[in-house]
Amino acid sequence: MDFGSYETLIVEFADGVATVTINRPEALNALSREVIDELAKVCDLFSGLGDARREDGDGANRGGAGADDDGAWPVRGVILTGAAGKAFVAGADIREMTSMSPDEAVAYARSMHAVTLALEALPVPVIACVDGYALGGGCELALAADFIYASESAQFGQPEVNLGLVPGFGGSVRLPQRIGLGMARELIYTARRLTAHEASSLGLVNGVFPTREQLLAAAAATIREIATKSPTAVAFAKRSINEAVGRTTAEGLDVEANAFRAAFETEDMKEGTEAFVAKRSPVFPGR
Ligand code: HXC
Repeated sequence: MDFGSYETLIVEFADGVATVTINRPEALNALSREVIDELAKVCDLFSGLGDARREDGDGANRGGAGADDDGAWPVRGVILTGAAGKAFVAGADIREMTSMSPDEAVAYARSMHAVTLALEALPVPVIACVDGYALGGGCELALAADFIYASESAQFGQPEVNLGLVPGFGGSVRLPQRIGLGMARELIYTARRLTAHEASSLGLVNGVFPTREQLLAAAAATIREIATKSPTAVAFAKRSINEAVGRTTAEGLDVEANAFRAAFETEDMKEGTEAFVAKRSPVFPGR
């Protein structure tokens, strides 16, 4: 499977799991404009997954490596991580920011907003594997994943106020959503860092693993577990959860009802319910 070639990313694929590694260890994997552009390309590549078989779309296979010729779901989940070393991602690229005008800085922030929204819109789960520092934009990138696993060495923080800045890649929105307003305010105003276990106790991290290898293996195992489920149902569930965030309960229930209808119309639903009644394991066609 061809995922293209990149200057700042390594994209690997095995057994349904795509691993995207931000590879700028000399700058602690900081999010330069080039990294952001390449992340946008990778999101675009994966965005067509399931299109050829999904009945709510236009049926077109957008032809990316994510959607192969017969429109199956070769990629069942994405691991997002940083090259081995001290950091997952140490934030926005501070050196690049020093020469930006305010307009350029906003364009830079907006380009990363687009990446975070694209990650949330992918039809497969994304797990951020944080080994080392996830600071500023690094924490914000991890927050755009479906959930976060961490190694014992992980540290999370929003240190922008140390630089005379505020979170710019979504932290003021997604951090309060994840850990609550009071704690998010305290972390953003103080620039304090959280250990992996502190982050876990706040619900920022779903699992803490002793080593980087165990961290990546655990994320791959979770994606393989999810891959035994209906891919259309998982995609609808992800969309439904993301679209309901920030809405009223009534609006959220409308979103859920739409997703439920869409799932009800799939062949996966027919297969899943028939298999249950027939007391056999389902074989989901993925459409
Ligand atoms: C560019 C960075 C960087 C960053 C580290 N480096 N973080 N380069 N942008 N965010 C570079 C250093 O300059 C250094 O390069 C090399 O990586 C190693 O870093 P050191 O500082 O020497 O490592 P260490 O002493 O171990 O300290 C690690 C650290 C520290 C605690 C993570 O690097 C640090 O505080 N980094 C900045 C973290 C931060 O403030 N992040 C938020 C950025 S603002 P050389 O060439 O000297 O070896 C942000 C806003 C998002 O993210 C919104 C924007 C729109």
